[in-house]
Amino acid sequence: MLALLYMRKNLVIAIDGYSSCGKSTLAKALAKKLGFIYIDSGSMYRAVTLFFIRNKVDISDPEAVKDALQHIELNFHSRDYESHITLNGEEVSEEIRQMPVSENVSEVSANKIVRKEMVKQQQRMGKSKNIVMDGRDIGTTVFADAQVKFFMTADPKIRAERRFKELQSKGDTVTSLEDVFENLAHRDYADTTRAESPLTRAEDAIILDNTELTQEEQLDFALEQVHQHLPV
Ligand code: DC
Repeated sequence: MLALLYMRKNLVIAIDGYSSCGKSTLAKALAKKLGFIYIDSGSMYRAVTLFFIRNKVDISDPEAVKDALQHIELNFHSRDYESHITLNGEEVSEEIRQMPVSENVSEVSANKIVRKEMVKQQQRMGKSKNIVMDGRDIGTTVFADAQVKFFMTADPKIRAERRFKELQSKGDTVTSLEDVFENLAHRDYADTTRAESPLTRAEDAIILDNTELTQEEQLDFALEQVHQHLPV
């Protein structure tokens, strides 16, 4: 079993990239194959956003943001290589994927005070475990010294089509393909142009363009890269 090959317990595989290009699919598959723990850093920004919405925290007030962060405790529970998150003990994995959070998370995740706290917590998680973490700034900021880094991308039209199909399979008959495309374009723009830790490829990140790859093909490619970069 591959997991047993890695005796060290502080290995990090960082996966960054654009929205909806399959980062979490690859991260989960790699974690499962390698026996690493999968951590979805985006869910932390989403859970903070949920807390801010529920408690009407004024994001433009630094003192209010600092105070709110002191009242937030986030924990992960890894089940079946899915990343489940609790906010002050409450399981919120479903709620953080819904529209109110999705519509506000860009603004919250662009906040300097929020980012500083999340990065601190994320770095702590990589101290004594082997992890695969996905996000936007993992290979550049959170774990700039990660042993393996991937930067994922795919044709925006293909990403929109994949996301559209996923929404439809979940019963969404309202959102059009054009809406999905627009939303992705907006999030790409917000992620890459914000002042704090914008999405950018780390110099040593391996580019993985999965426009024309199946999930199996991208996993094979990634595993080959991991084995090259993480000698046992
Ligand atoms: O991956 P996601 O769509 O669930 O991420 C939610 C938001 O959080 C998205 O606006 C990008 C942001 N994010 C970030 O700024 N840094 C990360 N490491 C992960 C996500």
